[in-house]
Amino acid sequence: MECSWKTVLLLVCASLGVQYTAIRTLRDSLSGPCQGAYRCQTRHHRVCLEGGDGAASDLPDESWCPKKCGALNLTLASMSCLSKGHVAIKTVRVPEVGDLRTLTEDPRLDLKIIHLVRDPRAILASRMMAFSDQFRAWKIWNATGRQPRYVDLSQITSTCKDMAASAETGLQRPAWLRGRYLLVRYEDLAFNPKDRASEIYRFVGLEMEDRVQMWIAKNTNSNVSSPSEWNYRYSTTRDSRATAESWRLRLGFDIVRTVQNLCNDTLALLGYKQVHSAAELRNLSHSLVEHRTFQPLT
Ligand SMILES: *[C@@H]1O[C@H](CO)[C@@H](O)[C@H](O)[C@H]1NC(C)=O
Ligand SMILES: *[C@@H]1O[C@H](CO)[C@@H](O)[C@H](O)[C@H]1NC(C)=O
Ligand SMILES: *[C@@H]1O[C@H](CO)[C@@H](O)[C@H](O)[C@H]1NC(C)=O
Ligand SMILES: *[C@@H]1O[C@H](CO)[C@@H](O)[C@H](O)[C@H]1NC(C)=O
Ligand SMILES: *[C@@H]1O[C@H](CO)[C@@H](O)[C@H](O)[C@H]1NC(C)=O
Repeated sequence: MECSWKTVLLLVCASLGVQYTAIRTLRDSLSGPCQGAYRCQTRHHRVCLEGGDGAASDLPDESWCPKKCGALNLTLASMSCLSKGHVAIKTVRVPEVGDLRTLTEDPRLDLKIIHLVRDPRAILASRMMAFSDQFRAWKIWNATGRQPRYVDLSQITSTCKDMAASAETGLQRPAWLRGRYLLVRYEDLAFNPKDRASEIYRFVGLEMEDRVQMWIAKNTNSNVSSPSEWNYRYSTTRDSRATAESWRLRLGFDIVRTVQNLCNDTLALLGYKQVHSAAELRNLSHSLVEHRTFQPLT
């Protein structure tokens, strides 16, 4: 896994009082320069101390975190989180869902895992925009249409492997994950935020309040639901569907083809279609997301 602010364990609100030992074990098992870099004390306090207000307030810009926050004080974090009935941890640093087995088996916890996956081609496009320095070779490739010799293909390859490994584990329904694993495709969430969100709330056993629905409507433009109402070119609001598909207009076909070759198994497993021409890539009327249901386990 690469090291960046996105890969830092982002604790929205963690019940570290009981989870502390297990989490530390998990953290110790992670390698790489980010190790132990728990961020966002300030944000953590804001989120936790404001209690249930999280959904109503604006989603914080995540790039804000590493600038503003020092290391997280685990003692303080556990104190404020212990007072909550439900806690959520968002993390991008768990390579494989199997690494969480200890936590799912801990009788003090009732851990549920929501595994969010995304089309690896979109992940690459998004990383190229967000981390232009690290992705300079890719950007040159995208701009010139010629693959530089020094382009690093290993990162996207391992991203795909990790994603597939976790999904395979989860979908095989081992006993220790039963009722605790939900696979969610980012695209499904983006195309149909309300229904997918309800599904997630049901899965974790929470009631979806009106203000959550309102937040979704406001922030995803999901109110406009019929395809004929979409207009990619003139859309000025930040709508989730257009965002999810924008990679198709931003990546050269040559790059897309390379990622498809590196990640073909992952694409097939998660129901993402390959494209075979630039025209097919750019034709947004042609969906690349196969209809799939990854049933929540009960
Ligand atoms: C964390 O916060 C507690 C309570 O304020 C304090 O006693 C402790 O020294 C802090 N730990 C660190 C590592 O800053
Ligand atoms: C959704 O659309 C309907 C009709 O187009 C409108 O009456 C309603 O106010 C909209 N809701 C939101 C949250 O924008
Ligand atoms: C790739 O190049 C196109 C122009 O050919 C540009 O519009 C697009 O933003 C570039 N994509 C990325 C991810 O840099
Ligand atoms: C992916 O590509 C490899 C190597 O070309 C091939 O062996 C494998 O069958 C492909 N998998 C799928 C799902 O197409
Ligand atoms: C775009 O895709 C749609 C749906 O697959 C297809 O009907 C249409 O002919 C395609 N348009 C072009 C210009 O290829």
